[in-house]
Amino acid sequence: MSSVRITLKLATSLDGRIALADGTSQWITSSASRARAHELRAAHDAILVGVGTVMADDPLLTARTIPLPARQPVRIVADSHARTPLHAKLMTSLNVAPVVIATAGDAAEAHAAAGASVWRCGNGVRVNVRDLVRRAEAEGLRTILVEGGSQLAASFVREGLVHEIAWFRAPLLIGGEGLSAVGELGLTDLKAATRWRPVATERIGDDALDTYVRVEQ
Ligand SMILES: NC(=O)c1ccc[n+]([C@@H]2O[C@H](COP(=O)([O-])OP(=O)(O)OC[C@H]3O[C@@H](n4cnc5c(N)ncnc54)[C@H](OP(=O)(O)O)[C@@H]3O)[C@@H](O)[C@H]2O)c1
Repeated sequence: MSSVRITLKLATSLDGRIALADGTSQWITSSASRARAHELRAAHDAILVGVGTVMADDPLLTARTIPLPARQPVRIVADSHARTPLHAKLMTSLNVAPVVIATAGDAAEAHAAAGASVWRCGNGVRVNVRDLVRRAEAEGLRTILVEGGSQLAASFVREGLVHEIAWFRAPLLIGGEGLSAVGELGLTDLKAATRWRPVATERIGDDALDTYVRVEQ
């Protein structure tokens, strides 16, 4: 088991949705919650998202706290076939914070040439999240904040890699056609569901931040 501590951050509606059916997700939570989320980023060595999130939101993924952190977290994209656009904000802000393109084996020459690091962690088909975490550990990263989206969150939960959930919840309802915070887990038996223990609750205006740690089963 790796020593890298992994926190899954979710920013959802009351009914656990992270986006509308058309992918719109900005902004479900309040600006105060987002400021708190920047503090969370600043407290981690790395931020990780799936390439679906890069395509949908073009996020910068930096920690924009006041004052700024002494060191920006490394920004990692799980991107099996290096689809991250070279003009994505991540790629045009390499002077602000490092970027890692984690591929399933692709060399991602253009991203490397632009200044990103490329980690090959897969079998040619899809990034293996266990390999990704092992590589992060080898690179000296001790904490990773997984920021989604739905599919990447599901992969981390399925593999039992998440230690903690930081769940920001805003008081609105999006409905069943919205995108679920965690994608398919393939559960057929509730006994096999991962259980979580609540350890903290913060009220942030009308939003809430609930922290859970995994119950070892
Ligand atoms: N409210 C929030 O907190 C929040 C946060 C983040 C995102 N979002 C929203 O979520 C949506 C994106 O979520 P999404 O589920 O479509 O995409 P995602 O989870 O961000 O990315 C999924 C993609 O990541 C790549 N990937 C590589 N290895 C993977 C692995 N082992 N497991 C899973 N994915 C892997 C796959 O593409 P390849 O096969 O090409 O590598 C996959 O299609 C957007 O609408 C975004 O706005 C909301």
